[in-house]
Amino acid sequence: MQTVQDAAGLRAAIRGWRAQGQTVSLVPTMGNLHAGHYSLIRLARARAERVVASVFVNPTQFGPNEDFERYPRTLAQDQAGLAEHGCDLLFAPDVATMYPYGPQHGVSIHVPQITDVLEGAHRPGHFDGVATVVCKLFNLVQPDIAVFGQKDYQQLKVIERMVRDLALPVKVLAAPTQRADDGLALSSRNQYLSAEERALAPAIHETLQQMRELVANKGHAWRVVEQAAFSKLERAGFVPDYAAIRRAEDLSEPGPDERAGLVALIAARLGGTRLIDNLPFD
Ligand code: PAJ
Repeated sequence: MQTVQDAAGLRAAIRGWRAQGQTVSLVPTMGNLHAGHYSLIRLARARAERVVASVFVNPTQFGPNEDFERYPRTLAQDQAGLAEHGCDLLFAPDVATMYPYGPQHGVSIHVPQITDVLEGAHRPGHFDGVATVVCKLFNLVQPDIAVFGQKDYQQLKVIERMVRDLALPVKVLAAPTQRADDGLALSSRNQYLSAEERALAPAIHETLQQMRELVANKGHAWRVVEQAAFSKLERAGFVPDYAAIRRAEDLSEPGPDERAGLVALIAARLGGTRLIDNLPFD
């Protein structure tokens, strides 16, 4: 597996494949890769002849008080893991390659509406940073297919809307959330958890399952279920940002009798670590 850091090297490698008529997939990441990321690489491999992964800790999607500086950077380890999982090319650019005018002074992409709620409401500007960097990566790699995890459900929907609205010639594929045996969704941020916090963390997935059960099968009102889930997380020692049940398509609020086509989503802090997870109903 080759690693390239600049646009010229990237384009040269991809040009060779394109000349042979091969299809190209892209798996964008911020590195510190785990089995969740590698499941995306596997899906990309199954759907395209060549797989490009990117590792870039994107400054524009972190808020001023978030963990940009301390976000784990483990490039050598990621390179080995990607090679092992059959990735063909790693694109690991620096900030100047991705933001030639500087992160604060470049073109920014705003996907409206869906970014106003949930993660968007709690992390202002976050999805502008995500949409912008993903659009740039699409322009650099020009993949046929791009793979994103359902773990970041709202992010997946934001990317789908950007692709459709800007008519980007990329097919977006969603990969299911990979979990530890106790249900905790795999995340690079899990390593911030103390042993005690790690033991509590699966309560997020358990709560999502209860939310789904109460609304989809027991007919409870979604607003009541949201409030009960929020309180339950607080009692367990979390500081929740939200416990929500929304329409899976656009994350709008369901009507009182809607029981299908929904998704339950939670964001909660445990000590200094913010965890997110979700569970689609169908
Ligand atoms: P990152 O958090 O590194 O995640 C990269 C991709 O891996 C995302 O599509 C994410 O949804 C997926 N992923 C993470 N954990 C997963 C899990 N447990 N199961 C399945 N998929 C999982 O998301 C980002 O980076 C960035 O916002 C990015 C899209 C790269 C833009 O900077």
